[in-house]
Amino acid sequence: MDAKKRIFSGIQPTGNLTLGNYIGALRNFKLLEDEYDCLYSIVDLHAITIRQDPAQLRKACLRTLAIFLASGLDPERNIIFFQSHVHEHAELAWILDCYTYMGELSRMTQFKDKSRKHADNINCGLFAYPVLMAADILLYQADLVPIGSDQKQHLELARNIAERFNALYSDTFVVPDGYFPKVGARVMSLQEPTRKMSKSDPEDTYIAILDPADIIRKKLRRAVTDCDAEVRFDPENKPGVSNLMSILSALTGQSLESIAADFSGKGYGIFKDAVADAVIAALAPIQQNYEKLSADKAYLESVMRSGAERASALAMRTLRKVHKKVGLAPAKL
Ligand code: TRP
Repeated sequence: MDAKKRIFSGIQPTGNLTLGNYIGALRNFKLLEDEYDCLYSIVDLHAITIRQDPAQLRKACLRTLAIFLASGLDPERNIIFFQSHVHEHAELAWILDCYTYMGELSRMTQFKDKSRKHADNINCGLFAYPVLMAADILLYQADLVPIGSDQKQHLELARNIAERFNALYSDTFVVPDGYFPKVGARVMSLQEPTRKMSKSDPEDTYIAILDPADIIRKKLRRAVTDCDAEVRFDPENKPGVSNLMSILSALTGQSLESIAADFSGKGYGIFKDAVADAVIAALAPIQQNYEKLSADKAYLESVMRSGAERASALAMRTLRKVHKKVGLAPAKL
């Protein structure tokens, strides 16, 4: 019997994953391999809730997969797949739409934010985005879902939908919990350090995993700090410096106190260079792997195919159960 708990996580295929994605997510995925059964889905169906250029999206999807593999995720020990390759996601999402209220979806802060940002394209997919996310999770009976704080409301909705369905039709879905890794600080924007580092912001605010060394150094040198020239951890009053300290600490394992002591009286220039050295050293092996992997289309395709097959086998079981509970006629009488 398989007693391992199951983890599901979805990642948007922006193709331009950041240092924040690496420290906050990717790096931890590797540590989870032993303890959990993990599924990682590149959520391309979520991506099209915003208008995408097809050629760009196709490239971004492959790039995201290659970065996953390059950062050390083992495709044999984890199930890595594209959401659109497992049709059960869209099918379960439709069914769950019928168990989700307009009022609930209208309250989602991300929907409100995105509607404001894309006022010319407030489509039904954008509105129902959280239901597709619930389907992603519930389809695999996931126990745990690693998420950032911006996704808490969506996970709460997934729990509510699962509980509602279970109450109506008897136990069907595992009610998932959030998973918040012990290590891995939240990485903030380099220019507006009170906001999360995000690839949808201007380029100089984030470090991309594939950024070359000179660009990384330049971006860090230009990172916003403050004018008291003291390397001290104080996120409230010194958000810029504190962010750089967390990055350095996350990558080197050095404590914040010891970083503060090391750079006491040295000024920000030297400190920023040390952060740049650590970031460049951490990303270099991933970038090298990436170069090799992204040239090997046949390998990427084989990973995609086997990921989709393994995910499908699990997804099918849940969807069949759901059809039965709801009262849909069995396909084979
Ligand atoms: N909405 C998530 C994000 O933007 C991505 C996502 C889609 C997801 N489906 C998921 C995350 C399921 C966790 C579980 O970050």
